[in-house]
Amino acid sequence: MHYASIVMLIVEAFSLFTQQSLPACKPVLTPEWVVEIVERYDIGCVPEPFRIDKVPKYMKAPIYIYYQLENYYQNHRRYVKSRSDKQLLHGQNEHGISSCQPVEVNNDRPIIPCGLIAWSLFNDTFTFIRNRAELKVNRKNIAWKSDREHKFGKNVYPFNFQNGTLIGGGKLNPTIPLSDQEDLIVWMRTSALPSFRKLYGRIEKDLDVDDVVVVHLMNNYNTYSFGGKKKLVLSTTSWLGGKNDFLGLAYVFIGSSSVTIAVVFTLLHLLSPRH
Ligand SMILES: *[C@@H]1O[C@H](CO)[C@@H](O)[C@H](O)[C@H]1NC(C)=O
Ligand SMILES: *[C@@H]1O[C@H](CO)[C@@H](O)[C@H](O)[C@H]1NC(C)=O
Repeated sequence: MHYASIVMLIVEAFSLFTQQSLPACKPVLTPEWVVEIVERYDIGCVPEPFRIDKVPKYMKAPIYIYYQLENYYQNHRRYVKSRSDKQLLHGQNEHGISSCQPVEVNNDRPIIPCGLIAWSLFNDTFTFIRNRAELKVNRKNIAWKSDREHKFGKNVYPFNFQNGTLIGGGKLNPTIPLSDQEDLIVWMRTSALPSFRKLYGRIEKDLDVDDVVVVHLMNNYNTYSFGGKKKLVLSTTSWLGGKNDFLGLAYVFIGSSSVTIAVVFTLLHLLSPRH
């Protein structure tokens, strides 16, 4: 085979891949035993509770609750840089916060945590009711352990946060150190894709088929201004095994094809070395 035709093949495979029409690349992302309920909740005004009509299948605990945002560019260059990792870990005194523009000070005092990402913290809340009894939601251990231990300080407390005239999102309890502000930690692990899910909590009771779950929500977070969508997801898989595998698959595909290409070219080279 000719180099050129191999390259053509690769290019072809690649364009098929980017169009997502490559047959070999269609693994079953949702195995049958994964049950997932997705409800969009931001259409119209939704102050009243909405109901998940019927649980389609028995769902074994833990049931993960995610909020899903769409058309939300957490990967925008200015947004994603607007944070201070040093401040998050060490607090205000040790290091500069100029990277946090345009949300670094308010009334001449530094903001902790500073930056656009923290300032735009998601602030919708959900409660779940089944048969008139509240289903408890465990909101602990929703953030990565490594983030809690190594990226957010145990002795760093929110200060002067959301204290300006323009409120960007959720507030933080100033008596809880950043390492325990799990909603913030989850939010600040920014998504590379404009549609993403973030873990909100876990329901630690099984849901039976045909159960009716009523969701009371506070629809606080403003996505209307940029045409975003908000959805609530109940799923029996954790995030890593969840549905949004595209990026992971892409990396694996590109990685393994690079290896294959390398092997092919090495073989070609060995078979007919240039003189
Ligand atoms: C919050 O703002 C008010 C006035 O806008 C100010 O008096 C107060 O000190 C600020 N809080 C912090 C923690 O800086
Ligand atoms: C929630 O965030 C929005 C901005 O998206 C803000 O206008 C609102 O005041 C916040 N509400 C609460 C209760 O934090």
